[in-house]
Amino acid sequence: MTGHGHQHTEGEAAEMFEPSSWEERYAGEEKVWSGEPNPQLVAEVSALTPGTALDVGCGEGGDVIWLARQGWRVTGADFSANGLARAARHAEEAGVADRIDWWQVDARTFEAGGRSFDLVTTHFLHPPDGGMVGVVGRLAGAVAPGGHLLVVGHEPSEVFTHLNESHRNAMFLAADLLPGLPEGFEALVVEQRPRRVVRDGVTVDIGDSTLLARRI
Ligand SMILES: C[S@@+](CC[C@H](N)C(=O)[O-])C[C@H]1O[C@@H](n2cnc3c(N)ncnc32)[C@H](O)[C@@H]1O
Repeated sequence: MTGHGHQHTEGEAAEMFEPSSWEERYAGEEKVWSGEPNPQLVAEVSALTPGTALDVGCGEGGDVIWLARQGWRVTGADFSANGLARAARHAEEAGVADRIDWWQVDARTFEAGGRSFDLVTTHFLHPPDGGMVGVVGRLAGAVAPGGHLLVVGHEPSEVFTHLNESHRNAMFLAADLLPGLPEGFEALVVEQRPRRVVRDGVTVDIGDSTLLARRI
């Protein structure tokens, strides 16, 4: 997670949920994320037959590029134009740009608009005030019959004490998301998965809240 150098004020914390703060973060040259695919994506999607995929909150495109390399036709979506521009650059460098489209959307108001995908995935998107439950419902609307929805985020943890309370409240357990699943979906995975990472030179255990559901 980001911005862990100091405690955020309420105003700063609220801004972190808005496009402007992400535009700023992605405006510079420095890479924000590793470029490696997220482990729960690799764990859950490697066994699926490639088709069409939508990654919402794709950031710099690490997951989008991995999916394209696995043979998926991918749409990378984010509300940050700078993030999408970076992701498109990385996809060019990786030689997979021809398998990828980009879509500027806000997950909080997302509507599939008649489009559907065999896989809809999102990693570490944390809208405030429990908003992820509503986002799950919106993203589910973009899953094709027989397709999968994969939602991964941070579980609330002591690790995040540097963050403001409103930001910590944006984190969720996998089971918290179940009310967002519309009828016609079966939950296949509802798990907290521990993951060891090194942040600022310190080894910490964090939990990946992982929800995988299939549209029947
Ligand atoms: C923590 S980053 C994760 C990026 C990427 N999924 C990954 O795992 O490396 C969250 C991303 O979600 C985007 N984002 C945050 N809120 C969003 C929203 N409401 N709608 C669309 N994108 C959003 C940010 O611009 C950022 O790129």
